[in-house]
Amino acid sequence: MNILILGSGGREHALAWAVMQNPKCDKLIVAPGNAGIAQIAECATLDVLNGAAVVNFCDENAIDFIIVGPEAPLAAGISDRLREAGFNVFGPSKAAAQLEASKAFTKEICAACDAPTAGYGHFTDADAARAHIKAHGAPIVVKADGLAAGKGVIVAMTEAEALAAVDDMFGGEFGAAGAEVVIEEFMEGEEASFFVLCDGKDVLAIGTAQDHKRVGDGDTGPNTGGMGAYSPAPVLSDAVASLAMEQIVKPCMDEMARRGMPYQGVLYAGLMIKDGQPRLVEYNVRFGDPECQVLMMRLGAQALDLMLACAEGRLADAQVHWADDHALTVVMAANGYPGDYAKGSVIGGLDALPEDSFNMCFHAGTALQDGKIVASGGRVLNVTARGASLAEAQSRAYAMVDRIDWPGGFCRRDIGWRAL
Ligand code: AMP
Ligand code: GLY
Repeated sequence: MNILILGSGGREHALAWAVMQNPKCDKLIVAPGNAGIAQIAECATLDVLNGAAVVNFCDENAIDFIIVGPEAPLAAGISDRLREAGFNVFGPSKAAAQLEASKAFTKEICAACDAPTAGYGHFTDADAARAHIKAHGAPIVVKADGLAAGKGVIVAMTEAEALAAVDDMFGGEFGAAGAEVVIEEFMEGEEASFFVLCDGKDVLAIGTAQDHKRVGDGDTGPNTGGMGAYSPAPVLSDAVASLAMEQIVKPCMDEMARRGMPYQGVLYAGLMIKDGQPRLVEYNVRFGDPECQVLMMRLGAQALDLMLACAEGRLADAQVHWADDHALTVVMAANGYPGDYAKGSVIGGLDALPEDSFNMCFHAGTALQDGKIVASGGRVLNVTARGASLAEAQSRAYAMVDRIDWPGGFCRRDIGWRAL
């Protein structure tokens, strides 16, 4: 079959790498893709937010299956446009994508089905939000309701910080995303990510992971999109995962179906775990980036079969075949990230890296310039390895990192510390 993946990051490179290993894939196009993806698949220029253009492209290229990587096209309704045109798509509808696109929507779904999560208030005006903060005190969490590229959440340790966040949000700092604000109880515990496929009726757990959000070693410095990840996450034991499934994911999926917006695609539940009890922090309606890279490293070719079963409503009969293995990815970012960084620095040493089912350097933000691979984003490479233990995966990944010649970039040296 002919497959189209929408997106251009390390997540999409990992999806493409897994899909290419499956004999069902005759032809793979990634739009827009990047320089690393271009080494294994065809890349095409396409505005993934333009539904009509994507439908046209699929017609012209006889595409049989579309995998949507990022949240923005999902929230804009790309899956609906493609399904209306008769295409088979992996990714939720615009209505179901509200689980990521609106924090107030998700809190309301959780409340309707009693899924454990932080207590909250939902505000459309600053005075009521300020009064709520004064009544509850700090620590407290202030969130812009809409999509804010991962920047719309302020975990305020003092009341003053929380009040300032409310002023910023209603003052327009996050644009339309901040026109409504959710204020949550601060939850303590350890965070982990739980990935589940849902076909509108049935659910299938496909893996767990832990991210490293802070830019510096020892979880210091500002927040980022993620500096590294590993799978599985020990804190998400089978017992905790089964509580998360029964108390959080299944009731929410049933509630979505009951409201006439069945969820179809991968659901990424960010959980806070304390004393063996998971509570929902947030949902994302896509694979995590860089969590996808470690999941694909472990799932390999079966990832395509699972996504097809999900899109075609066959999850009740689907199974995940687990190897007893571990995967870890180290993000290499451009110097200065997550603040200002330069683009265009040359990355050397990539050709000499081992790339096989145990070692892969996924590209997140690269471009080809005059025959050389150059950095074209903040997060640039995802150096990923698999091993019999997490320690083995870690040492393989850093052995690859050490062979990359890129003075314009840096990485954390402690990815995996919490589990090791
Ligand atoms: P979100 O975008 O909702 O995942 O929030 C970003 C990060 O803020 C999460 O990964 C958590 O580290 C933190 N966070 C969000 N909500 C809470 C909460 N209610 N209590 C504690 N930390 C939170
Ligand atoms: N790594 C976090 C995310 O993809 O949202």
